[in-house]
Amino acid sequence: MLKNLKKFSDPIYVTRPLLPDLNLLNKKLEEIWSSNWLTNNGPQHQLFERKIREYLKVPQLSLFNNGTIALVVGCQSLRITGEVITTPFTFPATPHVLTWNNIKPIFCDIDPVTLNIDSAKIESMITPQTTAILGVHVFGTPCDVKGIQEIADRYGLKVMYDAAHAFGAEIDNIGIGNYGDITMFSFHATKLFHTAEGGALVFKDKNLKQRVDYLKNFGIKNEDEVVMPGINGKMNEIQSALGLLVLEMVEGEKQKRKLLKETYIECLKDVEGITVVNTNKGLNDSYQYFVIRINEKVFGMSRDSLYGKLKEYNVFTRKYFYPLCSEYSCYKNLPSSSRSNLPIANQVVGEVLCMPFYGGLKVDEVEIICNLMKNIQRSK
Ligand SMILES: Cc1ncc(COP(=O)(O)O)c(C=O)c1O
Repeated sequence: MLKNLKKFSDPIYVTRPLLPDLNLLNKKLEEIWSSNWLTNNGPQHQLFERKIREYLKVPQLSLFNNGTIALVVGCQSLRITGEVITTPFTFPATPHVLTWNNIKPIFCDIDPVTLNIDSAKIESMITPQTTAILGVHVFGTPCDVKGIQEIADRYGLKVMYDAAHAFGAEIDNIGIGNYGDITMFSFHATKLFHTAEGGALVFKDKNLKQRVDYLKNFGIKNEDEVVMPGINGKMNEIQSALGLLVLEMVEGEKQKRKLLKETYIECLKDVEGITVVNTNKGLNDSYQYFVIRINEKVFGMSRDSLYGKLKEYNVFTRKYFYPLCSEYSCYKNLPSSSRSNLPIANQVVGEVLCMPFYGGLKVDEVEIICNLMKNIQRSK
């Protein structure tokens, strides 16, 4: 520990969930109790589904018990098979959803700036077995949706997006869920908007809504008919009620995060070897993460050492998405997982660090964290 630098008395985590006033939640629970309806498309679910669809500015939306199941159902709804081209720089759920659908993930390298799948490299990964592209809007930065759609149209492929980090992100005022054939959102507690656990699948095709809703409810059509092998992907009334309350808090939370982001950018602007990932200029930001990259040579210390040092001061950052999915034992033997196929992803994964970022964090705490980083750099 460095002299004159104090450890935070309480741990500072990378995020904290938005928690609505307990009295408001109790009121909602009273409504649910008096309705005697806990799940299966109850009144809270119906209201929440409409509100969230409006917020995300998308034509069709189905709620789910989590984002992973939403994406599993998304693949089923589009009848995706064979191989799907995706990114290795993501949360395990993305390729695992493919595997759970008996689909082979094919890893494509990432763009060095956006850290999303590199649309210029997708075409070379296409084989006769390819049926779709699954992009991830990593850290809320939109993929090259135009470039990806052009390739998909040329080869007759479907396009799916994992927008777990991109709640409320927009491109030219168009909700991010309007791109591709389906998009998944996660409402996990770590996300800016959440329902404790939860998620949604969004799409434009009106005809898909019925199929998605059957698939998330065991394929049940009515009391007499089960029309397809569905799963249980339903969001319940308590999750929906929580979502309605958290939705009211999202704009306020975004404003607080905007100020924290500006503070980080200002405090870190002269630190050699640290760059801020995608400030999303001109795009409507999801404010999901604040991410930096450490250039070990210039900063004088590796990302891992900085991560460890910050921990000593009770600052808990995250090395998202280390390790790369292509390094997991279940995927590392795939030909597309070779390091020579994924040079950028393998470099980036050793450089990124997600900083503490949530509305409850104070501006002066961000200043102290940045100051700590500068002192750690000077002391090495
Ligand atoms: C990129 C990405 N995809 C998928 C998921 C999984 O979503 P859920 O936890 O709602 O199943 C997450 C994180 O939770 C994620 O970060």
